[in-house]
Amino acid sequence: MNMWKPRRSSAPLLTILVGDSMFDASDGAAYLPIPLRTLQIDTTTGFDLYQFNAARGSYRLYRHGDLPFTEQHRTALLRNAVSRLFITSRDRGSYLRYLEGNLEQIVAAGRMSIGESSELVYGVAMQTVQEIFQAPEPDQAIERAQGVVRATLANLLRGPGSLATMMDLMAADYQLYTHSVNVCVLGLALGHRLGFDRPELTGLGAGLLLHDIGKTRIDPELLAKPDPLSPDEEQVVRQHPLLGAEVLGEDGRIDAASLAVVLQHHERCSGKGYPRGLAAEAIHPFAKVAALVNTFDSLTSHQPYRRGYLSYPAIRLMQELRGRDFDAEMFRLMIRMLAADEHGRKAAA
Ligand SMILES: [Fe+2]
Repeated sequence: MNMWKPRRSSAPLLTILVGDSMFDASDGAAYLPIPLRTLQIDTTTGFDLYQFNAARGSYRLYRHGDLPFTEQHRTALLRNAVSRLFITSRDRGSYLRYLEGNLEQIVAAGRMSIGESSELVYGVAMQTVQEIFQAPEPDQAIERAQGVVRATLANLLRGPGSLATMMDLMAADYQLYTHSVNVCVLGLALGHRLGFDRPELTGLGAGLLLHDIGKTRIDPELLAKPDPLSPDEEQVVRQHPLLGAEVLGEDGRIDAASLAVVLQHHERCSGKGYPRGLAAEAIHPFAKVAALVNTFDSLTSHQPYRRGYLSYPAIRLMQELRGRDFDAEMFRLMIRMLAADEHGRKAAA
């Protein structure tokens, strides 16, 4: 059996977010199509909405960005079989910020298929993490991460197969941003199975989304190095949990449980982890979840030094080589979760 994950040609193409821009010959501007179902009722978008006039072959202003988009608008558009509007390409950034701010409600409105909302949540989450990591500000980072987590959770709770649809979007090639989102999705799904309540899951998810934020303080060339690291280089990379806690912990706004995920996600139940080599009893349960999903996602992603494994070979490897590193009960639940979701995916197909 082939044990390697097939390489995708590129990261998932988030078609729902980024359609091809279309140029209007009459005014020379570029317009992007946006699905109507991504607009939340009674919100002021902050960007102008346009409609395409097929007869004239041009775009006309439909609703000014300062005015609310209401149920009447939505109903009237749908009555005329209009399922998408357009924005100018200049407003792409404000559209993404709007989606981020309204994500949980858009998902909860249930107007999208699970596949579509998974794509939307995954895309917005990735964009948000990228922005946070590029200019980390503790205040905003935690708030934005919690928003993404609430929407991810709402999506995961939509029904059977939602984890599978999100896992299908996970890029095979390892990148810091996609890895952060993957770990957050997997860890929330596992945390839900472990019976954590909503506030706990929000704390767990925010920690997972930001668990590697300390890597933003490490030379990217070192992190992307395809050859084995020297002991000195290894020491530098192993600083990232402490650096992450430093980035987020400075103003004391991050809760202790989220911080534990950042600080302890490389600690191991065998006591052989880092940075502190904590014993199993001293590791926060959220960090034990993080250790499992972090290792699983790293093994199933293509790394600079090896290809990514498929799920089952990855699980086997975790069991055989590092069984004592992980919490046995959580590990068992993760395996059942992955198997159940695989089953749900086949049933849905
Ligand atoms: Fe890490």
